Amino acid sequence: MAILAPMLTMAFLLLMEAMSVSHGQLQVGFYSDTCPDAEDIVSAAVQDAAGNDPSILPALLRLQFHDCFVQTAVSWQGCDASVLIRGNDAEVNNNKHQGLRGQEVVEAAKAELEDNCPGVVSCADIVALAARDAVAMTGGPSFDVPTGRRDGLVSRLRDADVLPDVADPISLLRSRFSSAGLDDRDLVLLTAAHTIGTTACFFVKDRLYNYRLPGGGGGGSDPSIPAPFLAELKAKCAPGDFNTRVALDRGSEGEFDDSILRNIRSGHAVIASDAALDASNATRRLVTAYLGSARFAQDFVGAMVKMGTIGALTGDDGEVRDVCSQFNSD
Ligand code: HEM
Repeated sequence: MAILAPMLTMAFLLLMEAMSVSHGQLQVGFYSDTCPDAEDIVSAAVQDAAGNDPSILPALLRLQFHDCFVQTAVSWQGCDASVLIRGNDAEVNNNKHQGLRGQEVVEAAKAELEDNCPGVVSCADIVALAARDAVAMTGGPSFDVPTGRRDGLVSRLRDADVLPDVADPISLLRSRFSSAGLDDRDLVLLTAAHTIGTTACFFVKDRLYNYRLPGGGGGGSDPSIPAPFLAELKAKCAPGDFNTRVALDRGSEGEFDDSILRNIRSGHAVIASDAALDASNATRRLVTAYLGSARFAQDFVGAMVKMGTIGALTGDDGEVRDVCSQFNSD
């Protein structure tokens, strides 16, 4: 018994360690033997791109969300780089992906990786690592990303229909997240990714000029927008202007921080789906709880890692693409 106790303790500690780094078959440091510089190569590509255009960082964070939130008729297709495939019926052409950018950064990292360790690092992992780097490079938390994803073999336009829409009411946002295995906490934390980046006026115009009240009717502006902020938004997004870009996190778009939560609570959310987090008790409570809390960064990381496991392919499933925009069989 005296010998058994330390052995059990040791076994327990090893199990805890394994659980802390392994998510399904994904694991932190998956490429440490097969391509030890993989994560550095991705970071260098992200850094390079951001040096030319810092706005690529939020785009890369959004890219991972759009890669992961994809469902076929039978299952979550998820984080498998299907969003990077080019082609007429490919997922990327779905309206929900409008304005998606950053694919060329993933391709640049992939080309460098193919030179260093051909056929080893998946495009799906590059997407996840680049999103992680984008968070850290904008002042957010640095964190480990479990890797080992494989690239998917299908990319169909309609499979991206499940992606949330700016006009979704809070009930629909909650149910869309829930069917992907993400709860209200994940919804609030992940939406807080809007602490960085911008939106095209296209996604704001209906809130300003054609707002539909929940019971029908309307046609003017969203009544929940404070008058001075409404004037500010209308000055940026004139009627008919779809392309001008507006900060999602008013006053702090370049910095990863919790000010988006403050803006949501005070009625200064820019897009309707962010404002919607203030419209249910459950999500409002979470926004309030994370505002100014040291747990925000830590729990955001947890939600990102969780999102990164949606429908991930591992082992012998899928493939490791040679080029991220094409299946190997093409
Ligand atoms: C809750 C559902 C969500 C909706 C309806 C939504 C919608 C949008 C829209 C309409 C834009 C502007 C796109 C453009 O004009 O280029 C945007 C941008 C962005 N989204 Fe979301 N989003 C959601 C959740 C998320 C999640 C979960 C993440 C990441 C974890 C994310 C990260 C971003 C980032 C970083 C940007 C800025 C992109 C840029 O500056 O290029 N979003 N989102």
